[in-house]
Amino acid sequence: METIIRTKVKDLLKSQPGNDVLAKGWVRTKRGNKEVAFIALNDGSTINNIQIVVDKTKVDADTLAKITTGACIGVTGTLVESLGGGQAVEIQAKEIEIYGVCDPMRYPLQKKDTSFEYLRTVAHMRMRTNTFGAVLRIRNHMANAIHQYFYNKGFVYLNTPLITASDCEGAGQMFQVTTMDLNNIPKNKKGQVDFTQDFFGKQTSLTVSGQLEGELGATALGEIYTFGPTFRAENSNTPRHLAEFWMIEPEMAFYDIKDNMDLAEDFIKYLVKYALDNCYDDVKFLNDKYDDTLLERLQGVSGTEFVRLPYTQGIEILEEAVRNGVQFEYPVSWGVDLQSEHERYLVEKHFGRPVILTDYPKDIKAFYMKQNEDGKTVRAMDVLFPKIGEIIGGSERESSLEKLETRIDELQMSRKNLEWYIDTRRFGSCPHSGFGLGFERLLLFVTGMTNIRDVIPFPRTPKNAEY
Ligand code: 4AD
Ligand code: MG
Repeated sequence: METIIRTKVKDLLKSQPGNDVLAKGWVRTKRGNKEVAFIALNDGSTINNIQIVVDKTKVDADTLAKITTGACIGVTGTLVESLGGGQAVEIQAKEIEIYGVCDPMRYPLQKKDTSFEYLRTVAHMRMRTNTFGAVLRIRNHMANAIHQYFYNKGFVYLNTPLITASDCEGAGQMFQVTTMDLNNIPKNKKGQVDFTQDFFGKQTSLTVSGQLEGELGATALGEIYTFGPTFRAENSNTPRHLAEFWMIEPEMAFYDIKDNMDLAEDFIKYLVKYALDNCYDDVKFLNDKYDDTLLERLQGVSGTEFVRLPYTQGIEILEEAVRNGVQFEYPVSWGVDLQSEHERYLVEKHFGRPVILTDYPKDIKAFYMKQNEDGKTVRAMDVLFPKIGEIIGGSERESSLEKLETRIDELQMSRKNLEWYIDTRRFGSCPHSGFGLGFERLLLFVTGMTNIRDVIPFPRTPKNAEY
């Protein structure tokens, strides 16, 4: 007998009936009667299962008994037109090989409890569920779309370091990196930790952003983007924060704040449209199962113009809302950092579409942002999305050497540590801009999932670093 090459389920479901095929995958369900058994088989290539029809006189009872939910099998048989509803083709089994049995009493996904909370406790297995399969396939498509978008625009993909000695956002949320023996830390004469004895000879951490190095790239190559993991030791146990998340950071020479906003809006619309065009089955599954306004929201965003509004006007709208009886948990007045409840009010209640808020008070933004003439605000831009709040943060960068140095001093940051960065303003400084898109925040939007722990395979949050 000629050997048959395995075909993925995704391709089988699109194939014409008639040929003998080989499918491999994990059993989702098995049901049937005295004469036949029906097995739903999934191999992760699609949300859809292929149905295997087993004539019980042709496959021995022992083998059939071992085929339980979660078991891994290979099925050889004829692809035939399906008489039952729901699928065009199915496999009439001739031979079934069991690769791995799966004890129904111990299989974590056999339980009735399929809540997201429970699944997080078995995150090593949850990728086998329909929901996480869908989310992770969408995640894969989005990563691909991001590279495609920038590649087509001529941006250079720049790999910035994960271990760094500088705190880009200046928020002091860095995880330290050291090889020192924590039980025996070397001290200098002043009694302080002697980092010269550490691996890198200085104090280092995991990066909170690749932006500063990204600016070095943009002021040499023109337009770059980074796409990598980012680490923040912020102790915020919210459905929108991770201690390890992925960020996409484009940085462009000769872009002002308007060019920056145009790019951000075009980029995110491209990604949402890409999801609709390339992940329709998975998005539709999530829409139908959890949130039947998801598709509508995605279509809405890809076809609507974002509102562009200065922070000061945003605050006025929020203050007006409070006067009219809207209650927020956190107070709002000029100068405060907006909470996600405020951002969502603007987006969901007031405007009914995404909002780009600009010109924030300089005191709540990072040192590198371009200062406005008013002396109070900086040329920042945050893109705010329904259900999420902030999805993108960015700005035009301060290109004046003098203003940048003054701001670094004002904030009592170490200029010495930043000399390499300041050099971009010393030697051929240019107007430039950039932003950071939180990859998991994007995925929250595109999948409609409500907790950021459920759009990354292995979430890292305070007190949780399993696997
Ligand atoms: O607003 P952020 O802190 O901006 C920066 O890091 C800039 N250096 C970006 C730039 O201009 N190149 O972070 C950017 C985005 C946020 O808008 C949010 O989507 C996401 O990163 N983000 C997080 N996502 C998950 N968990 C966290 N703890 C996050 N913190 C920020
Ligand atoms: Mg931000």
